Amino acid sequence: MNLLVDNYAREHTYLRISVTDRCNLRCVYCMPAEGVPLKKREEILTLEEIYRVAKVFVGLGIDKIRITGGEPLVRKGLDGLIKRLGALAGVKTLAMTTNAVLLADQVRQLHQSGLTALNISLDSLQPKRFEAITLRDDHAKVMAGITAALSEKLETVKLNCVVIAGVNDDEVLDFVHFVKDKPLNVRFIEYMPFKDNNWQSTGVVSYAQMRGVIEQQFTLEPLNARPGDVAKDFSLVGHQGTVSFISSMTDSFCGTCNRLRLTSEGSIKSCLFYGAEVSLRDAMRAGGSDADLRDLIQIAVKGKPEAHPPIEELAASDNRSMVEIGG
Ligand code: 5AD
Ligand code: SF4
Repeated sequence: MNLLVDNYAREHTYLRISVTDRCNLRCVYCMPAEGVPLKKREEILTLEEIYRVAKVFVGLGIDKIRITGGEPLVRKGLDGLIKRLGALAGVKTLAMTTNAVLLADQVRQLHQSGLTALNISLDSLQPKRFEAITLRDDHAKVMAGITAALSEKLETVKLNCVVIAGVNDDEVLDFVHFVKDKPLNVRFIEYMPFKDNNWQSTGVVSYAQMRGVIEQQFTLEPLNARPGDVAKDFSLVGHQGTVSFISSMTDSFCGTCNRLRLTSEGSIKSCLFYGAEVSLRDAMRAGGSDADLRDLIQIAVKGKPEAHPPIEELAASDNRSMVEIGG
């Protein structure tokens, strides 16, 4: 039974857990070049605390967990956490979003520990441009990470590509070609505003525009959507790989949102764009019981807004940067 139902009858089955606020890249659309002030070690949940919270959430009806960051693979001891989460009865999907810089060496072990799915962030197939976007010279490592992930045969491997006008929008077709003979789903993501990410409305390339570019060369066939899916998924005639679009800016999907977020400091964020957070960490460290945690989780769920404010307001608001929230 799902006990995570909000005031708008949305059932929450999907928990995204940020395990660190650190990242080994500096993607310009994600955070300021100088980075964000890092949390002190004691502010961040221990792996034991993360496991405890996850278990409480799973007891309330969560069946899909995604590990995010910052960059999750920089967190020491992560594999041990994956093993414990994977062994929790009720967890059907255990996924991770990573920039793949450190993936090649770790993916086998993670898979064996129970990881079922990977989303890999990659915004350019061109090494020079990759460096201009991420401010790090790690393109080759990421490509090796993708190759390793494919040979591991996880249930799903996806590429996340944030498309920005004048930055990488000329690579949309290159990405489509890249997945032709690979069991990969490439997801084109509309550029969203976050604190200090230099967002400008002129940088947004809409779902309709991206789709138009692809349809000049390919025939897209819609795939069936599952409830809570945020992506519009398509197969392509003659293609092994598939493409998707995440239209957060031009066609938001608040009405079917099934996700909750746990920040690295142990706060629940019920909406990516909603400031209010409920701290489970403080409750745990004050000796709170699992029942206390369940009460706090319910408070967060009942406080979830029906929808995020209009985009113009978001751009002006002081939300946290993406690297702090973990996507
Ligand atoms: N707009 C859209 N997507 C973003 N991400 C980070 N910042 C933004 C943004 N401003 C995505 C990354 C990564 C995931 C964690 O969030 O591409 O795949
Ligand atoms: Fe790191 Fe991902 Fe942000 Fe890039 S988008 S800086 S890889 S957290």
